Amino acid sequence: MTLTQKEKKSLVDLANIARQRAYVPYSKYSVGSSLRTKTGRIYTGVNVENAAYPQTMCAERVAIFKAVSEGEKEFEVITVVTDNGGSPCGGCRQVMAEFGLDTIVLLADGTGRILKEITVRELLPEAFTPDHLENR
Ligand code: THU
Repeated sequence: MTLTQKEKKSLVDLANIARQRAYVPYSKYSVGSSLRTKTGRIYTGVNVENAAYPQTMCAERVAIFKAVSEGEKEFEVITVVTDNGGSPCGGCRQVMAEFGLDTIVLLADGTGRILKEITVRELLPEAFTPDHLENR
């Protein structure tokens, strides 16, 4: 599957628009995410913080959980947009890995500039995946 520049830009723009709805009263670090499933559906997510800090949920996971809760488990591409092009946390990498190591991840900054294009496999080498639990 090849993504055109236009498709990439449009997914990043969607994440950046969603980012305005991030709930970040504590960190003030807004994150927006978008993903496209292999069936062509698009979901977005934002980080949602909590006064009990550890209960915060990252933007990527919100997008993935929204998709999975709608029956979508195969993702072509996931975008992550932050002010400074920040990289997904370890927990999000693990959740991405659950659904496929070949998914493309696009990291962009607040201007919508794509700083990195990388696969989940590259983001999380030697990942623990559902395969490790087979025959159980
Ligand atoms: N955050 C994300 O939404 N995704 C990541 O992959 C890294 C961190 C959020 C969590 C918290 O609301 C804020 O960024 C600062 O850690």
